[in-house]
Amino acid sequence: MSQRPLNVGLVGGGGGAFIVNPHQKAIFFDGTRRVTAAALHPDPEIAMKEAENWKYPITGYRSYDEMLDAESKKPAGEGLDYILIVTPNFVHFDPAKKALEKGIPVFCEKPLTVKLEESDELVKIVGEKKIPFCVAHTYLGHWSSRLARFIVQSGLIGEVRWADAYYIQGWLSTRTEDKGVMQAEWRVDPKRAGLSGCGGDIGTHAMMQLRYVTGLEPTKVLGRLETFVKGRQLDDHFTVYCELNNGGKALVRASQICIGHKNDLGLEVNGDKGTLVWKQEEPEKVVVHLPGQPDRVYWRGEVQPNDGFFGDIPADLLAEPTIPSGHPEAFHDAFARLHRCFEADVRAYQKGEYKGADGSKYATVNDGRHGIYFITKAVESSQKGGVWVDL
Ligand SMILES: NC(=O)c1ccc[n+]([C@@H]2O[C@H](COP(=O)([O-])OP(=O)(O)OC[C@H]3O[C@@H](n4cnc5c(N)ncnc54)[C@H](O)[C@@H]3O)[C@@H](O)[C@H]2O)c1
Repeated sequence: MSQRPLNVGLVGGGGGAFIVNPHQKAIFFDGTRRVTAAALHPDPEIAMKEAENWKYPITGYRSYDEMLDAESKKPAGEGLDYILIVTPNFVHFDPAKKALEKGIPVFCEKPLTVKLEESDELVKIVGEKKIPFCVAHTYLGHWSSRLARFIVQSGLIGEVRWADAYYIQGWLSTRTEDKGVMQAEWRVDPKRAGLSGCGGDIGTHAMMQLRYVTGLEPTKVLGRLETFVKGRQLDDHFTVYCELNNGGKALVRASQICIGHKNDLGLEVNGDKGTLVWKQEEPEKVVVHLPGQPDRVYWRGEVQPNDGFFGDIPADLLAEPTIPSGHPEAFHDAFARLHRCFEADVRAYQKGEYKGADGSKYATVNDGRHGIYFITKAVESSQKGGVWVDL
């Protein structure tokens, strides 16, 4: 039986914003969610004007406070089912906290907050209220990320010895922030971005990909945060050596000054039986190297159980692909998969059946808090001259 589409409210997204665009496509992707309300800009007048000129009719609000107040007073089924926070990092905590306090589930961009205490507070509220919360680590939404997770966590490449998780870009290799690019301007400002620039912006994605695929946790970090472009207060190059809780080691690195690199996020995991390679710019496949054997390239939709490498494959993994292989899925599909999984949890929450998220479908508030904890410790290590710091 068909259900009413969920109502989503945007916090941020006006004035030429970036990440709202893939999100709002992903919200509509299945026809079961739609954007109905928004507080699009910090300036109330601009927020209202932008809402009036939105691509389709939505209810505009002068601020997210006004939106949360008005929408939470509507009868069940007419107000917001969840909010999406797509503001700069320093405007994540306040709307997230206020929505949770009103019982509204939250889909929040990463990094979760600018301060660790704020992340701790969100974890506490989510735990007390048992309410869905997703942190938008986009790349967990690729089917290939889920396959990679299954391969590593079911032991198919053996015990993890070493992993290299990286996210390399080049768009901040010059003072992009002085050229009127709003996305660059706030990202280099510690008050709005947080205590790490590159590390917080994209190092957190690399760390999340490592934790999601391997299921391992860093126990110690040794960080070097560097700033190559003169005049910047925050790092534009981020390198962290990690010890993992299985005794293995990993390098988590990110850079925004490597000319030629676009969104070069990847993960290589070296186990004692084989190696797995995953790349976000080629997200339809996972490559596996086994000693003495030809390389195996596993494409989405082309994976069979009992093929000489796989035994059984979980049914939900095989059932997940949405279009036949060879019709490429990419960034928007990854976002859509996250919103789809979050929708299921929101609907369960509304029926009183939500049991909490285990992090297998999307990054949870605990994962988001881990990202901030990791960054805090990497900064501490770097400031002490690159010493080992316990997590
Ligand atoms: N998951 C990903 O892959 C990914 C990619 C890019 C950005 N991000 C994250 O998304 C967030 C936004 O990044 P972006 O590049 O889209 O930034 P942006 O500068 O393009 O957009 C920010 C938006 O927030 C609005 N805003 C700011 N303060 C506000 C307030 N008080 N009330 C309402 N609106 C307000 C701005 O008007 C703008 O619309 C950041 O936290 C960033 O780290 C995530």
